[in-house]
This record gives sequence, C-alpha cells and structure tokens, in this order.
Amino acid sequence: MWSPWQQIMASLFFFLLLFFLLTQNHLSLADQASYKNISIGTTLTPLTKPTSWLSPSGDFAFGFLPHPANTSLSLLAVWFDKIDNKTIVWCANGDAPVVAAESYNLTLSPDGRFSLKDPSGQEIWNPGVNKTSHAAILDTGNLVLSAADGEVLWQSFDHPTDTILPGQTLKQETQVFARLMDTDYTRGRFVLVLQGVDGNLVMYSVAFPTTMHYPEAYWATDITGPGVFQVVYNQSGSIDVYYNNTFHTIISTVVPGDHYHRATLDPDGIFRQQYKFPKNEPTTDSWLVKQTLASDICTKLVTGIGSGVCGINSYCTMGQDERVECLCPPHYSFIDNDRKYRGCKPNFAAQSCEPGGESSFDFQVVDNLDWPLADAEHYYPMNETECRINCLKDCFCAVTTYINGSCWKKKYPLSNGRFKTDVYLRTLIKYSTVLSSSAQPEEEGKLRDWRIWAIGGASLFLFGSVILNLAQFAARLSTRRKRTLVRTSSGMAGPALCSFTYKELEDATKGFSEELGRGAFGTVYKGTLASDPAGVLIAVKKLERMYELEAAEKDFMNEIHTIGLTHHKNLVRLLGFCKEATHRLLVYEFMSNGSLNKFLFGSDSPDWDQRIEIALGIARGLAYLHEECRTQIIHCDIKPQNILVDDNLVAKISDFGMAKLLRLEQTRTSTGIRGTIGYFAPEWFKNSAITAKVDVYSFGVLLLEIICCRKNLDWDYDFGSEVKPTLIECTKECYRTGRLNLLVEEDEEAKKDGMRLERFAMVGISCVQEEPWMRPSMKKVVQMLEGTIDVAVPPNMYSLHM
Ligand SMILES: *[C@@H]1O[C@H](CO)[C@@H](O)[C@H](O)[C@H]1NC(C)=O
Ligand SMILES: *[C@@H]1O[C@H](CO)[C@@H](O)[C@H](O)[C@H]1NC(C)=O
Ligand SMILES: *[C@@H]1O[C@H](CO)[C@@H](O)[C@H](O)[C@H]1NC(C)=O
Ligand SMILES: *[C@@H]1O[C@H](CO)[C@@H](O)[C@H](O)[C@H]1NC(C)=O
Ligand SMILES: *[C@@H]1O[C@H](CO)[C@@H](O)[C@H](O)[C@H]1NC(C)=O
Ligand SMILES: *[C@@H]1O[C@H](CO)[C@@H](O)[C@H](O)[C@H]1NC(C)=O
Ligand SMILES: *[C@@H]1O[C@H](CO)[C@@H](O)[C@H](O)[C@H]1NC(C)=O
Ligand SMILES: *[C@@H]1O[C@H](CO)[C@@H](O)[C@H](O)[C@H]1NC(C)=O
Ligand SMILES: *[C@@H]1O[C@H](CO)[C@@H](O)[C@H](O)[C@H]1NC(C)=O
Repeated sequence: MWSPWQQIMASLFFFLLLFFLLTQNHLSLADQASYKNISIGTTLTPLTKPTSWLSPSGDFAFGFLPHPANTSLSLLAVWFDKIDNKTIVWCANGDAPVVAAESYNLTLSPDGRFSLKDPSGQEIWNPGVNKTSHAAILDTGNLVLSAADGEVLWQSFDHPTDTILPGQTLKQETQVFARLMDTDYTRGRFVLVLQGVDGNLVMYSVAFPTTMHYPEAYWATDITGPGVFQVVYNQSGSIDVYYNNTFHTIISTVVPGDHYHRATLDPDGIFRQQYKFPKNEPTTDSWLVKQTLASDICTKLVTGIGSGVCGINSYCTMGQDERVECLCPPHYSFIDNDRKYRGCKPNFAAQSCEPGGESSFDFQVVDNLDWPLADAEHYYPMNETECRINCLKDCFCAVTTYINGSCWKKKYPLSNGRFKTDVYLRTLIKYSTVLSSSAQPEEEGKLRDWRIWAIGGASLFLFGSVILNLAQFAARLSTRRKRTLVRTSSGMAGPALCSFTYKELEDATKGFSEELGRGAFGTVYKGTLASDPAGVLIAVKKLERMYELEAAEKDFMNEIHTIGLTHHKNLVRLLGFCKEATHRLLVYEFMSNGSLNKFLFGSDSPDWDQRIEIALGIARGLAYLHEECRTQIIHCDIKPQNILVDDNLVAKISDFGMAKLLRLEQTRTSTGIRGTIGYFAPEWFKNSAITAKVDVYSFGVLLLEIICCRKNLDWDYDFGSEVKPTLIECTKECYRTGRLNLLVEEDEEAKKDGMRLERFAMVGISCVQEEPWMRPSMKKVVQMLEGTIDVAVPPNMYSLHM
C-alpha cells in the first residue's frame, strides 16, 4: 500500500496533469498565470482621461483612451500604458470614436455578451461572440475573451488593426490596415495581407475610403505555394513567414528582453519595426525605427488606376525622417492641408483653349520630377524649345518632360508622381504668370473651369476608373456570400477570383446560347451576371476535352492563379472560373468590339492612329507578360483572334493561361507545338529551346498585319506583277526597294506618316528574324515603337529568304 505521503504526491501529480490537459488547448500555463479577470458585471465608461483595465505587469492597458486629436472623443483600444504618449496597438472603433461620456458603457453582461452600448442601450461594438464568462488583457497585449471552460472565444491578436506585437501570429487572409493618418485611426490607404490564394505576404494600396485594394502590390515576399502559411512575430524580435516547416525571415532584428517593440504598417505605407527602451525607466524618447519593409514605396508603387502613393497632381518623396512626404509641384497647393493625401490643385486658372490662350503661360523647370502614367503624347526626335511650344499651345497639357530628344506631354490628372533618380529628366511645369498663389483665382467662371477640369476631371478619372474596376469587385463581392472561393486541394481560399457554379454560368449565358467565338480548346459565350443589378457583361469560355487528366487539372488551377494575379491595361481580366465535376469554365470581362481579327480585316477597318495605339497596346501587354510579371509568361499564340478590343479601342491580349502558357523553367518536351500557322516562330519546327522570342516573332507578324490591314497568309494577294506568298516577304521587298508606301496603298493617313510607317515596318521585320536571339525583346520593341530608341536595321536584311 502507498504511504499517505505517496498518496498526496500521487494526487498532486494527478491534479497537475489534469490541469495541464485541461488548459493545454486553450492558453499556455504562463498565460494562465498572468490572467487578470474582467468578470461578468464589470463596466467601463469612456471619459476624457484614460479608463482601462491593466495587464498583470501593467505594460498594456485595454479600455477607453481619449482620442489624440480630440479629447472629447474616446477610442476603445489596447495601448502601451507605461509610455508617455500612449501608443495604440489595437483599436476597435478607429472609424467611429465615441463621445467621452458616462452614458456609454462597455459591459460584460450576465448573458455572456461583451459589448459597448450607447446611451439608448444600442450595441455599437461587440466582438461577435456569446458565452463569454471572462475577459482579460494579457501581458503580451492580447485581449482575450474566454468561455467558462477556458475556451478562447475571441482574441485581438486574431483581428489586428495596424500593429503586430511580439508573440502574435497572423493566419492566412488576415489583413493589417494602415491607419489613415497619425492621429486618425480610420482604416487607411495601405494594407498588408497574407494571401489565402498563394500564401504570399504582400502590401497593396487601398482605394480609400473603401477597403478594396488596387491590384498592383508594392511589396511582396514572393514565398508562395500550396499549404498553410503563417506570419510569426518572435518575442526575440524577428518576424518570419512560417511555411513548410521552415521560417523565412523577413525582419531579422534581435531586441533585448527589456525593450518594448512592435511592428506597424504606418499611414505612409511603410512597415516599420520600432523599439523603445528600457521598459521600466520612464523616458521621453520616442520610438526608434529598427527595420523597415517597403521603404522604396515612392518608386515601387505604381497604380494604373488611382493616384499612387500620394494624391493627384502631387508627388512622393522621402522626408528627412525617412517618412514618405507628399508634396505639391511649384504653383500648386494642397487641396486640404490637413489631409495631404487628397492631392494638389493649381494656384492659377485653367488655360483657355481659344487661340492666344497660352499668352500668359510659362514653365517652371524642376529636375527629375515625373508622373509616369500621365503621358498623353510622346514625340521623338524633338528639341526642348519645340517641346515647350508644343505643350504651351495645347490647353490640356499640364506638364512636359524632356530627355535626349524625347518629349512627353502630360495631362491631368497627374498620378503616381515621384522623382526619377536613374536618369536626368527635365520637367517643365506649366503655370499662369497672371495669377500667382497669393491672388486667389476667385473669378467665378475661371474657377469653375478649373474645378471641372482639374479636380472634377481628376476625381472623375479616379472615381470613374475605380468604380468601373470596382464594379467587378462589387459584382464579385455581391455574389461571394453565397459562393465558395478559390479552393485548392489544400483548402486555401483566395480573395482575387470568384468560383462560379456551373448552374450560375448556365443561367448567366442563357444556357450557352450566344456564341462569341470558337477556338481549339473551347467555345466562348456572352453572358450577364444575374446576381449583379448593373448586369455586368461577361465572356464565358467553356473548355472542352483537355481537362480530364490530373496533371492538366493542376495546370488549370496554377494558370488561374498566375493569370488571376496579373493585371495590366492590355491584358483581358480573368474574373473567375468554374470547376465542377468535368466542367471547366473561365469567366472574363466582356469586350464590346470583339477580336482584332474581325476589327482589322472586317469591312470597316480602324484608321491609322487607332492601329498605332492597338499595336503599342499589344506590345506593352506582351512586355508585361515577359518582363514584369513575377513568373515570366509566354503566350505562344499571339494572333489577331486572341487580341480583343474594348469600347475605347484599347487592345487586350486574351486566351493566355489556357493550354498555351509556358513557364520559363519548362522544357520543350513538356509541350507540343502550339500556335497557329502563319504566326509560328521557326523554332517550333526545330529542336531548339522555346523562349519568349516566339511571342516576339508572332507579334512581328501581327504588327505587319496591323500596318497593312492584311493577313500574312493572304494567298490571293497580288503584289504588283509578282505573286508574293506572305506579307512578311512583301514588306521586306518593299523595304529593300524603298517603296513602303505600297503597303498602305489606300491609306492616306499612313502614307503621310512616312517616318512612323518606316519605323513600324522595320520593327516588324526585326521581330520576324529567323534566329530567336536576333529578335529584340518586347521591352525593346515597345521603346522602338514609341521612338525612344532607334530601330536597328536587321543586319541580314538582304540575305533573309523565306
Ligand atoms: C476568472 O474567472 C473565471 C470565471 O469567473 C474563473 O473560473 C477563473 O478561475 C478566474 N481566473 C482567475 C485567474 O481569476
Ligand atoms: C471634438 O468632438 C466633439 C464631439 O464629436 C465635437 O463636438 C467637437 O467639435 C470636436 N472638436 C474638434 C476640435 O474637432
Ligand atoms: C452605464 O453605467 C452607468 C453607471 O454604472 C449607469 O448609470 C448607466 O445607466 C449605464 N448606461 C447604460 C446605457 O447602460
Ligand atoms: C448569440 O446568441 C443569440 C441568441 O442565442 C444567437 O441568435 C446568435 O446567433 C449568437 N451569436 C453568435 C455569434 O453565436
Ligand atoms: C525565436 O527566436 C529564438 C532566438 O532567436 C529562437 O531560439 C526560437 O527558435 C525562435 N522561435 C520561433 C518560433 O521562431
Ligand atoms: C517542403 O520542404 C521539403 C524539404 O525541406 C521539400 O522537399 C518540399 O519540396 C517542400 N514542399 C513544398 C511544397 O515546398
Ligand atoms: C508625444 O506626442 C506629442 C504630440 O503628438 C509629440 O509632440 C511628442 O514628441 C511625443 N512624445 C514622444 C515621447 O513621443
Ligand atoms: C529646335 O528645332 C527648331 C525646328 O526644328 C529649330 O528652328 C530650332 O532652331 C531648334 N532649336 C534648338 C535650340 O536647337
Ligand atoms: C542621354 O544622353 C546622355 C549623354 O548625352 C547619356 O549619358 C544618357 O544615357 C542618355 N539618356 C537616355 C535615356 O538615353
């Protein structure tokens, strides 16, 4: 038998074991020990001084803090309490601070609801859980709500606002929003998200005041893959992405144990880890920055829609304290001095478009200031004097930039402003000499002109394009509720693309009744999203055959992920897909003008200027696929049928991410011959590697077709007295004999634009050279078409024979 002593030890051990087992799944023993209960019936009211519950050590407080910008308002928050300026790390009502008054109560009521009520007893905040038996603010800064059995029902660490703390872990799909301004805790203009779809940790700018983000990330870890990802902020100071049992360090600092530290996505879009020392000595020192992510935001962030890091007509620069500063160009001032992100307005009245309207206008020269997306025209070659006159005479020209014979004319709204540091750029800001900044242009008519043009135009542009683009998001959001998101075998969910049911797409296309086109791998139908009140038009591609095999299946999903995350003006947007039983469908935005094939070779062919824009658009889209995407994408089937044209005659490349997508690392053996007769690069028939240069070849053919509005393989075409088999040979022949005019016989506009015609034809010829390495890259092609670099005459121009 056991002695009494042994019995006591045994039961103590048993008790400890039981205690351990009971608490194991909930909070660690250490946490449990430092637990200070906020129990049922406790109430807290917002006052003009902080009212709070403290964590056991007193480092953190949870409760009401007077709003830093207006002490008669109060924020429900968690903050560092021992620091002079109480630094907020989590906030429940940043968007809607409450009036500091005793009639507001935060209560844990006997029915297990933890909520903030207004004087009428209406709940204005609650974490959305029942059964709460006690709450506590832990020494880590985590606010935890627990059930009677100790189960954690809710914790602030799972719902971060703009800050993460040591010991905190972010799950996939968790968003960390920067606050709007230093003292405005509204969700602001930047977001950090651990994406559900691919595990990438990325930062986006946000279409404020919505919480939707623009498609272009300005920072990313690019650690992606299937499976589960986490962001872990180690107590020791490092921040890692945890994936596949490995820690991928993104912030590697080591902070001594007696220091406070935190990591915050700041209002300027930069993610900063900051520390303060030592914990227990009151100090007036402010936080010191240890390490940053995305500190190159001014140059890295470019949004095709939206205004960029700073507001319209302003520009982004790094201030002395390494914080982003938004500034106005000379002769402009902030629309709202307290909210500089709203951008700048000119201090002068708009230029009249009547003859002589330019008489009171001049330029201020600033070096290296650029608004890369505001280009309206580009001229080359042109000297600076001509460049100035050119902008002066154009009442819509706001700024012109000049470098080595290239002149860019820029129009409102001036977006994505920044300094260009790699080259010397002369920036000429146009302003009126009549009205200086001191003389307020209060003349009604002129002022209204400005509003309509500059601000109205800009916000129209901003809101118009945002809304247009967001209509798609909205369409997706409105349907998302009843629909599952992208889910791969590992159960990841993605916010970017919608998964549709077969039934939904059948309904949307009225039973696949209206056919838009047919290709080798499927048929495209027109449809309307019924769930969307605005009736967004879509194009639904129904894949046939192809997708039975498991490997092909994986490709289908991978490609959806790759293409779903690419965004470019000249690429058709993939909105969603359907993967149900054997059905495989892809949903795209609808293009009203159909394919370039119909457009170009139809009865009403587009005019020369339109064709130039189309050719440039396609070239830019391809350059993006080849050189700007994270994974190089080779289209492999560039032809007029695969180029769509929208309402505004913008060309968009489509039909990628289908059977014809090649990755850089893929070898020839894994793909059969792809492409279409007439557009094939010769290397498809040889045993040589397939590179992005196959697209350059196909683009060359297409470019010549666009110039001439004729098909490459137009067997009946009679050229002079001889019958020539292809357009490529015709072009070469014309070039050799100096008779390029013959290519555009009935096109007066093109003939008048002889220099450009020659340039375009030469680019076309250099793209269709036999040897892949001799063809220029798409980036070069874009520059040559734009005229920023000279076109090299193909050296073997005379020895090439097809
Ligand atoms: C906290 O409150 C719960 C329920 O009122 C109680 O069971 C628990 O023992 C308390 N814990 C501490 C550490 O006071
Ligand atoms: C502070 O907030 C109160 C309550 O909303 C408001 O009446 C007051 O005008 C605000 N003060 C300032 C300076 O904004
Ligand atoms: C808030 O609490 C105070 C004091 O405990 C009480 O007088 C008041 O009625 C409460 N208000 C509400 C809306 O419950
Ligand atoms: C809380 O309880 C109410 C009443 O039982 C119930 O209707 C509601 O759905 C519950 N909420 C949550 C988040 O569980
Ligand atoms: C945290 O950092 C310490 C010291 O660098 C290291 O020993 C520990 O493994 C880290 N923990 C995690 C979860 O990364
Ligand atoms: C996970 O790591 C193992 C070994 O470190 C590696 O073999 C495997 O390919 C990785 N899996 C993924 C999906 O990256
Ligand atoms: C505290 O805040 C005030 C006003 O925002 C600021 O001027 C001061 O520098 C801050 N002090 C510290 C120690 O951060
Ligand atoms: C610029 O070009 C114009 C017209 O071609 C010419 O008249 C002028 O002299 C040139 N100016 C300079 C500075 O080269
Ligand atoms: C412009 O010209 C200068 C010198 O003439 C040269 O160094 C520079 O590379 C040129 N820049 C561009 C963009 O062509």
